Amino acid sequence: MFVPPDAIWTVKHMTDAILTVRDMKIISTGGGLGAEIQGLDLRDIDDRAFAMIHRAWLDNLVLLFRAQHLNPLDLIAFSRRFGALDLPPIQESGRRFVEGIPELYVVSNVLKDGEPIGSLGSGEASWHTDMSYLEQPPMASMLYAVEVPPSGGDTEFINMYSLYETIPEDLKGQIEKLRIKHDATYNSGGYLRQGVQPVDDPRVSPGVFHPLVCTHPETGRKCLYLGRRRNAYIEGLSLAESEALLDQLWSFTSRGELTWRNIWSVGDLVLWDNRCTMHRRDAFDPSGRRILYRTQIRGTARPAA
Ligand code: SIN
Repeated sequence: MFVPPDAIWTVKHMTDAILTVRDMKIISTGGGLGAEIQGLDLRDIDDRAFAMIHRAWLDNLVLLFRAQHLNPLDLIAFSRRFGALDLPPIQESGRRFVEGIPELYVVSNVLKDGEPIGSLGSGEASWHTDMSYLEQPPMASMLYAVEVPPSGGDTEFINMYSLYETIPEDLKGQIEKLRIKHDATYNSGGYLRQGVQPVDDPRVSPGVFHPLVCTHPETGRKCLYLGRRRNAYIEGLSLAESEALLDQLWSFTSRGELTWRNIWSVGDLVLWDNRCTMHRRDAFDPSGRRILYRTQIRGTARPAA
């Protein structure tokens, strides 16, 4: 029987796709959010596997893929499956881009010739949503571990859908129509952003207002959209009223059952939905080397109520 060469290709392609998807396992972290996906090499993802990753990401908010072997271009290629990429913030050193790979953000405490190769040092990074000081913040971010210290530097995530659901109904009613300023002065490590004057009055600091309660554009679920605590300000309130309401809302972030943390190993890739999570990082011993690569996937819509 004559079998045309393209038919052979099609059968092989379908078999590969079925194998890829059959080998993929989604295992919940057991925490407040997140799942580990096993059985995939992210350098080689077909459309069916990608569709399942995308669904799992919307359902679990954070995905962990262990033991990956990605160079920066592999990371960029996998990130682009989700959409166009945003350029990262300028590093604290003033360096704009990694030469030749402008979409890559390096998170690191490592110095080369006395200069930091990346951002955020070795201190704690406080709870935040990436780049929410933009009108249209990234919808997702990924971090890929290249070098990790022996201990410390864990990254913790919090489920902002669940956090919203734990808020008492009267408080939900009070905040429903409010907007909050997402500060553009300081990054999560407390470093001043490039080209910005230090300012600690949230009423006048640079930033963008977004609704305090947002509806996720893909899942339709409501979440609290806090961004970051420093220099946050609730529109229309006095400073004292704004601070009191923010402290009340931020007190819900201490609920451990809403969180999950990744204790990094080299080769881990963590992908999160930036629209319905926040994350923070533990400090670590500055003598340990930590290098992670991050990408940011451009948002498709402004955060909306
Ligand atoms: C980040 O906030 O993007 C970096 C978090 C980390 O260093 O784990």
